[in-house]
Amino acid sequence: MTRTSPPSPAEHARQALASLALPGGGTLGASDRLGGVAVQGGRINAAIRVTPDEAEAFAPLRAQAEAVLRALPGIDQALVVLTAEAAAPAPPPKLAAPAPTRRPEILPGVAHVVAVASGKGGVGKSTTAVNLALGLRLLGLRVGLLDADIYGPSLPTLLGLHGKPRVGPGRKLMPMDAFGLKAMSMGVLVDAETAMVWRGPMVMSAITQMLAEVDWGALDILLVDMPPGTGDAQLAIAQGTRLSGAVIVSTPQDLSLIDARRGITMFRKVDVPILGIVENMAHFLCPTCGAEHAIFGRGGARAEAERLGAPFLGAVPLTMELRAASDAGQPIVARDPDGALGRLYLELARSLRAELARTTATQPVSPTPVHGGHRP
Ligand SMILES: Nc1ncnc2c1ncn2[C@@H]1O[C@H](COP(=O)(O)OP(=O)(O)OP(=O)(O)O)[C@@H](O)[C@H]1O
Ligand SMILES: [Mg+2]
Repeated sequence: MTRTSPPSPAEHARQALASLALPGGGTLGASDRLGGVAVQGGRINAAIRVTPDEAEAFAPLRAQAEAVLRALPGIDQALVVLTAEAAAPAPPPKLAAPAPTRRPEILPGVAHVVAVASGKGGVGKSTTAVNLALGLRLLGLRVGLLDADIYGPSLPTLLGLHGKPRVGPGRKLMPMDAFGLKAMSMGVLVDAETAMVWRGPMVMSAITQMLAEVDWGALDILLVDMPPGTGDAQLAIAQGTRLSGAVIVSTPQDLSLIDARRGITMFRKVDVPILGIVENMAHFLCPTCGAEHAIFGRGGARAEAERLGAPFLGAVPLTMELRAASDAGQPIVARDPDGALGRLYLELARSLRAELARTTATQPVSPTPVHGGHRP
């Protein structure tokens, strides 16, 4: 008697996608367009191969495919990307390695582009990106901050950005100035409702525009506040820039789980060094009694970072002060640079600078004088 083993989750997902109709006729299953399908826990990533001209027409199929995958039992997140980099059958879906020759054209004056990312949403990427950027600024570096979250931009709120950016020489957009940082976000360019309906290809072109058509000028570091996930925005950043590295933000309870690892794997696949892990909401700082409550235990994140082979940059507590400052558009490092949290982010910034210098020895991160407080 022969036994057939049940299909693997990935195979099951492929079968579910097979009958979807292609824009030009035929089905996805009968074509060679379905790239790799990866299932990890309750998440599925899949890729559909298209040529660049087809991307727009395939956007509805992409959405349909995500809906089909999300409806599978045991799946709570599905991400389908259109891989448009090759007309011929493409290799399995991994982020295309950033083309090294492109960065000098796009960001001629930027020494390092560093992504602030996570495997999942809401862990504090934007909060970390903003305060880390301000910490780097306190170290005397020229710092830019790009909000790559097209659907849910945070920088306008976090930095209290108002108004529209100016158009500068050469018809390029001038970044906004906030607390000595150069900042740009889709949130200051279009209404929230407009961006909400954009599909993948438009997200990619919006990000490319914020890289190429903004006059970033000379910067030591451009921090990119990444949206959650591993989709189009990530692809656009990886393709449009040569990332010097990535900082992964994680909460303690996620670190040991698949999320942080997924973020790390994504960057390692495209040879982007992990500059470090920031543990956010590590412990609770009680506003009334001042006591620290290690709700998720202590030391786990550092140990886990070591296990993942990534430097541990530091741990930020869960505090109402931090949240209130962010909500008020006055990041904690700007509001109170000498307070406990201000000093903590400054330390994180120092560790990041050291790690960046170590991994990119050819391009030292050189401080430039800053009016007001340069802290070596
Ligand atoms: N250490 C902290 N203490 C208290 N509140 C925090 C802390 N870090 C982040 N928050 C709050 O948690 C919420 C989510 O943070 P944030 O927007 O930075 O996360 P994110 O990872 O960028 O989210 P998304 O994936 O939606 O972009 C915000 O309201 C923020 O103010
Ligand atoms: Mg965010």
